[in-house]
Amino acid sequence: MSGVNLRRIGIGMLGYAFMGKAHSHAWKDIPIFFWPPPAVPDLVVIYGRTEKKVKEAALRYGYKRFTTNWREVVKDPEVEIIDNCLPNHLHKDPTIEAMEEGKHVVVEKPLARNAEEAKEILDVYRRSEVKAMVAFNYRFVPAVMLAKKLIDEGFLGRIYHFRARYLQDWLIDPSFPLVWRLQKEIAGSGPLGDLGSHIVDLARYLIGEPKKVTGMMKTFIEERPLPHDPSRKGKVTVEDAFVATIEFENGAIGTLEATRFATGRKNYNNFEINGEKGSIEFNLERLNELKVYWHEEPIKDIEGWHTILVTEGHHPYIKYYWPSGHIIGWEHTFINELYHFLDAVVNDKDIGPQGATIEDGYRNMVILDAIAESAKRGLAIEIRY
Ligand SMILES: NC(=O)c1ccc[n+]([C@@H]2O[C@H](COP(=O)([O-])OP(=O)(O)OC[C@H]3O[C@@H](n4cnc5c(N)ncnc54)[C@H](OP(=O)(O)O)[C@@H]3O)[C@@H](O)[C@H]2O)c1
Repeated sequence: MSGVNLRRIGIGMLGYAFMGKAHSHAWKDIPIFFWPPPAVPDLVVIYGRTEKKVKEAALRYGYKRFTTNWREVVKDPEVEIIDNCLPNHLHKDPTIEAMEEGKHVVVEKPLARNAEEAKEILDVYRRSEVKAMVAFNYRFVPAVMLAKKLIDEGFLGRIYHFRARYLQDWLIDPSFPLVWRLQKEIAGSGPLGDLGSHIVDLARYLIGEPKKVTGMMKTFIEERPLPHDPSRKGKVTVEDAFVATIEFENGAIGTLEATRFATGRKNYNNFEINGEKGSIEFNLERLNELKVYWHEEPIKDIEGWHTILVTEGHHPYIKYYWPSGHIIGWEHTFINELYHFLDAVVNDKDIGPQGATIEDGYRNMVILDAIAESAKRGLAIEIRY
């Protein structure tokens, strides 16, 4: 019809809930916004343990098939890309088996429950010929990409400080149940892996490699009702909050903090960077904006923090969406991210440095483990990959 001959590529989705929905939506939106796309994603098969729910998800998102056995997705001959949106304890085996089957893989963060598991994934990845990406979607926020550009092009000069906080409050109620995110054997850690992984990734993406870290972790509520039997309680086996300090190879220093107990903070992923020529601040709850401050403001009378609305066509990814000034949302971070991945798969491009590679995911886990070890031993820990 249009004369465009489009390749189609089969997607196998693991998980249908929070991230399964965000990623399915993104795959569907790619050809709507990125035209012509590198290929048209075909939603082939989706997995979850609960038949009724995964069947409904297949219908709702538009998958041809559903299954309650993840190996069927990994082995499906129609599937070229495995999208792993399962809880953290199910990142390693399906990801490794998919790579061994020669499938390309995008896997949600954190890459695994700990650095040891992440290293196993990295080793298999290195032996394979597939493309693989860890889904650190905040690298794909246009305002965050602008922050990176300002740093990389020297507009901030020497960087002194990186200060990041990822704050939520969904655990304030002690009767909130013991969901998988509160169980170490499934999640690996609490907000350290869940939220801290994002800000550690942003620290490496924006500032560079860390040299050493210190950490402190705390569990405020030790027991919670079991999800399927609220009359009984089970032990919370992860931390509820962490704080950390970080020293970078380039001499900058920083602080990192994440919690699910910051009353009033819903999804407050915030960083401030101070350099010799200026500062920048980002807050995910205002994701279309970047705040900047120039130490040598050309017009003295307007010296102060300025808010840049990052919605013009010259800003990254914006030209694919709406006309000038029309804001984008959180779901667009996944569309940008999966477009980047699809382009890398189809046109044999690199995942990094824009996307997070499996090596990035492994390094991220080494840093998270070091923060946890520091919290346990009360010592600063040197980062060794
Ligand atoms: N990038 C981001 O911004 C972001 C945001 C949220 C989460 N994540 C990451 O995405 C991954 C998935 O998180 P989510 O929030 O999507 O989780 P979720 O909403 O709880 O969904 C988990 C999915 O996995 C399936 N599942 C299979 N085995 C399971 C098990 N043993 N326990 C629990 N669920 C199981 C569930 O269906 P059944 O119960 O029917 O099996 C469900 O479809 C995690 O690694 C998380 O860290 C990333």
